[in-house]
Amino acid sequence: MPPTPPPPNQPPASPGDSGAGKSGPAPQGSAANDSGNSRSGSASDSLIARLIVERGLAPQNEIDAALTALKANAGQPRLFTEILIDAQIVTRRQLGRLRNEAESDKSILRIPGFQMIRKLGAGAMATVYLAKQVSLDRLVAVKILPKQFSTDKGFIERFYREGQAAAKLSDPNIVGALELGRVGDQHYFVMEYVDGETVYDKMMAAKRLKDREALVIIRQVASALKHAHAAGFIHRDIKPKNLMITRAGVVKLADLGLARAMSDKKTAEAERHKAFGTPYYISPEQVRGAVDLGPPADIYGLGATLYHMLTGRVPFEGRDPTEVMRHHLETPLVPPDQRVNGISQSTAEIVEMMMQKKPKDRYQSATELLEDIDLALAGQPLRYASREVDMAAIASQVEGSAETEIQDATATIHPRLTAMAPAVIIGLSVLCLLLIVLLILR
Ligand SMILES: Nc1ncnc2c1ncn2[C@@H]1O[C@H](COP(=O)(O)OP(=O)(O)OP(=O)(O)O)[C@@H](O)[C@H]1O
Ligand SMILES: [Mg+2]
Repeated sequence: MPPTPPPPNQPPASPGDSGAGKSGPAPQGSAANDSGNSRSGSASDSLIARLIVERGLAPQNEIDAALTALKANAGQPRLFTEILIDAQIVTRRQLGRLRNEAESDKSILRIPGFQMIRKLGAGAMATVYLAKQVSLDRLVAVKILPKQFSTDKGFIERFYREGQAAAKLSDPNIVGALELGRVGDQHYFVMEYVDGETVYDKMMAAKRLKDREALVIIRQVASALKHAHAAGFIHRDIKPKNLMITRAGVVKLADLGLARAMSDKKTAEAERHKAFGTPYYISPEQVRGAVDLGPPADIYGLGATLYHMLTGRVPFEGRDPTEVMRHHLETPLVPPDQRVNGISQSTAEIVEMMMQKKPKDRYQSATELLEDIDLALAGQPLRYASREVDMAAIASQVEGSAETEIQDATATIHPRLTAMAPAVIIGLSVLCLLLIVLLILR
């Protein structure tokens, strides 16, 4: 039976009074209440004071001293912020930035036990914040799901069931799930904070990643998938934005457990709005809406991600999500090494095998994929992806365009095969000659 979601937490009484504020640095006294007393503008003094301490711009005792000065000057009212500047606790420029932050901070959901620090990013469906879990004094990432999710009982049950199961996974390459909950009608998901960047950010900065660098990243995701698949999870949303890299270079797969619950919701939304998410990395069986997804679905998504990393382009583009998804179903893949020079044959073969249209033609498990990646990294022949020479394909290729370069970017026949064409022609000619000689001799 699915677990029952916890009862909603009561939202705090005022924006400056987060649950975390109990142990947080919000100042006491008149200035803590609001701008009305100190005429500090639209952002409340208490929020600014809290942000100053959280950012490490000043210790709490200096803030307290500024508050004391504010109270002492009751006869000659001064702005709290002016006192901060006079005391050189912050500069005017810093104060401007803090005010902006305090303004957006007011709209952040207050979660008891957590001090929200700043926004880390936002995706199509949710926003992620950096927060401090007060009880354990540690940084965490909190994903706040949109309100529309709270109306669907099925989604909520799935969300808790999946989240609780995901929390049992423990792997160095998976972002740990720490807590699920809700405040009012908003659900949130607390996870391990990854101090680093996403693979997407990395790709945007570097345009393309080198073979080896890309394989080293993908290897770690494959290792995460091996663990998740063994525990019965299929991620369903493998993409560069769901792969985080720590400053030390450890890759962590994010949104495990969440992806399933959300993708079901997304699919439902899609039926209504006729489009959803980013379909650049979706497997053909997911496009078809298959319910019995297996490890090859994630392997396809990871293959599409690797393709993007190596070539700087997604495997299939289109005017809208429907067109992109149709390409995943029908359009032959342009081999990555045909799009970009410098990709090794084995890396290209791995990508092609990961992105086969039929799940049965792909790696059947992350273990198989890991084996080939390790062989590729060691410069040895691959075990699974090595292409057997298809004489029929070669013969037809030779007939059609033995001497011409492949011009068509969508051509499916690999340039490696074209390179072999002269040898094949000679071989076939020798064979014909032998046959003719035999016939004559008879
Ligand atoms: N555990 C985490 N630690 C640090 N930053 C994170 C973490 N999880 C997510 N982020 C940041 O928050 C951003 C938004 O994440 P989110 O999962 O909501 O959306 P997405 O994966 O980028 O896109 P989509 O909505 O299409 O799934 C990420 O791109 C990343 O920068
Ligand atoms: Mg994500």
